[in-house]
Amino acid sequence: MATINQKIVLASRPVGMVSESNFRLVEEEVRELNEGEVLFRAQYLSVDPYMRGRMNDTKSYADPVGIGEVMTGEIIGPVESSKNPRYKEGDIVAGRVGWQKYAISDGKGLRKIKPSSVPISTSLGVLGMPGLTAYFGLLDVCQAKEGDTVVVSGAAGAVGSVVGQIAKIKGCRVVGIAGSDDKLNWITEELGFDAGINYKTSENITEELKNHCPQGVNCYFDNVGGPITDAVFPLLALNSHIAICGQISMYNSEKGEKGPRLLWNLIVKRATIQGFLVFDYFDRFSEAMPELTEWVASGKIKYRENVIDGLENAPRAFIGLFKGENTGKQLVRIS
Ligand SMILES: NC(=O)c1ccc[n+]([C@@H]2O[C@H](COP(=O)([O-])OP(=O)(O)OC[C@H]3O[C@@H](n4cnc5c(N)ncnc54)[C@H](OP(=O)(O)O)[C@@H]3O)[C@@H](O)[C@H]2O)c1
Repeated sequence: MATINQKIVLASRPVGMVSESNFRLVEEEVRELNEGEVLFRAQYLSVDPYMRGRMNDTKSYADPVGIGEVMTGEIIGPVESSKNPRYKEGDIVAGRVGWQKYAISDGKGLRKIKPSSVPISTSLGVLGMPGLTAYFGLLDVCQAKEGDTVVVSGAAGAVGSVVGQIAKIKGCRVVGIAGSDDKLNWITEELGFDAGINYKTSENITEELKNHCPQGVNCYFDNVGGPITDAVFPLLALNSHIAICGQISMYNSEKGEKGPRLLWNLIVKRATIQGFLVFDYFDRFSEAMPELTEWVASGKIKYRENVIDGLENAPRAFIGLFKGENTGKQLVRIS
């Protein structure tokens, strides 16, 4: 019997906040493999904030997804059949092949996941792109070192939760900013952050930060932008470093943003601000992975996954990122 693939395609481009109507589920038969190809099945799909940018009809660092095309994204799961000598049935592979149940690949860009003590889903989170983003953003861009005070926004998310824990391993003081008290409890009680601020209930984020950062902020790891970032700038320490990782507060914005307006703080504090993309560090992934893996295996880095079942629920899982519904890495379990 023919195998039926299910995939989620872009049905329309969102204006402002993305909605489920911007997506469509389609089915098609899985074709026969050509020589050199491999067929694998998705066990998990990663949904990530950057995908919102791909839904717009504008090129940024990557081309947009076309209407009717499968949504961009990474899946992980077992090889079902192979005509590629590098992969055999049962191998676990991860690849950026989109929101779909089955994928055919020529093998280029696939990652073979070695069996280990941690679940394979971690290869999409703490031991995948988000973990690597945290690692290089904190250690290379922010240049965090022992004794520094590190502030991270989006602190209970996939990237932010790892940033704070690496900073603690390196001997920093860490303050996280996130959107609920439950999230703050998790990062302070379980992950070891020194303090947390709930930006949704705080009357004055700068004042609260001042109490938690008496020596100022040496490293600011920015996942969100907007008013939260405005609130951190006045507290920058001399020669501080700011990593612009993400600006999720603006991804669904309809109005053009006017800022940044607070750059004079960079003059006063001789601060360095740098945007970065994790893929700029591709050649150094092999340097980070053993260290991240050891930290996770030894429990020095803890992680949480927010799992929603069913490919058909991927749009809901994705939209939840913009409503703060996830704690830790948002995943979709497909089979
Ligand atoms: N530069 C790179 O190479 C790179 C790589 C990976 C990710 N990123 C960026 O890093 C950021 C975090 O990504 P992630 O995968 O770890 O996502 P995530 O933090 O796991 O999920 C997104 C979180 O953002 C917060 N959020 C949503 N809307 C917000 C708003 N208006 N203001 C403040 N916070 C808001 C929510 O938490 P709250 O409950 O706290 O609001 C939500 O849980 C994103 O901006 C992403 O684009 C960049």
